[in-house]
Amino acid sequence: MLAVLCLIFCCSLSSTSATFVHPGLLHTSSDLARVRRHVLANKAPWNGSWVLLSQHMRNSNYVPRNTSFINCGTVAAGRILDTWSSSLQLINGTSDKYLESGIYGYAFAQSAELLRSYNGWTGLQQFQKMLLEVFYPMNKAFLDHHNGQDVYRYWANWDLCNTASMMTIGVLTDNQTMFDYAYNGEGMGT
Ligand SMILES: *[C@@H]1O[C@H](CO)[C@@H](O)[C@H](O)[C@H]1NC(C)=O
Ligand SMILES: *[C@@H]1O[C@H](CO)[C@@H](O)[C@H](O)[C@H]1NC(C)=O
Ligand SMILES: *[C@@H]1O[C@H](CO)[C@@H](O)[C@H](O)[C@H]1NC(C)=O
Ligand SMILES: *[C@@H]1O[C@H](CO)[C@@H](O)[C@H](O)[C@H]1NC(C)=O
Repeated sequence: MLAVLCLIFCCSLSSTSATFVHPGLLHTSSDLARVRRHVLANKAPWNGSWVLLSQHMRNSNYVPRNTSFINCGTVAAGRILDTWSSSLQLINGTSDKYLESGIYGYAFAQSAELLRSYNGWTGLQQFQKMLLEVFYPMNKAFLDHHNGQDVYRYWANWDLCNTASMMTIGVLTDNQTMFDYAYNGEGMGT
């Protein structure tokens, strides 16, 4: 499992200093530059995917559930993140809440890491706050206590998604301690 995470996070781990390189999660700057080069050169499959994405963004009537906070002038993707980060207070429910905290914490941190260098988005701090207050404590609670169960009670994916969430939140918030804690955690999926 560490090997898989190493592949995912190789960029962050290859650095010997205590600072993360951004963007440094699933996509690095050179990844984005490569995609851009291929789109501009009209090469498949990048060209077709780009057409689909552009059409989707233009035609989409997707509306975030809560629009109490709209950061005027920001892009659609930033608005979705801002709407969530201005609203979400708690993930509650059955033990499945720990799958949500892992899966969505990870996906949210990845999304924000991609947008962070875009100067049309000003919501980074608020988004970091949501991840630190709502998701990170649940990731840590699950990795430390496994919902009050034996460490082997839950399948590996439960540890894995909470580990991945904590690692990505560590990168997004430039917290090496948090990243290392997740990286060195115990459990089936670590
Ligand atoms: C993408 O590029 C390929 C050649 O690499 C071309 O055959 C195809 O028509 C292009 N698709 C679009 C949507 O432009
Ligand atoms: C969503 O927005 C509505 C309308 O502003 C508000 O009443 C509600 O509290 C918001 N939900 C959350 C979870 O913040
Ligand atoms: C969370 O869910 C539990 C179990 O369904 C419930 O007892 C508790 O009141 C909920 N807490 C909040 C703050 O909604
Ligand atoms: C980093 O995260 C740890 C928890 O893992 C926390 O105790 C510490 O205060 C955080 N550091 C900063 C600079 O926020």
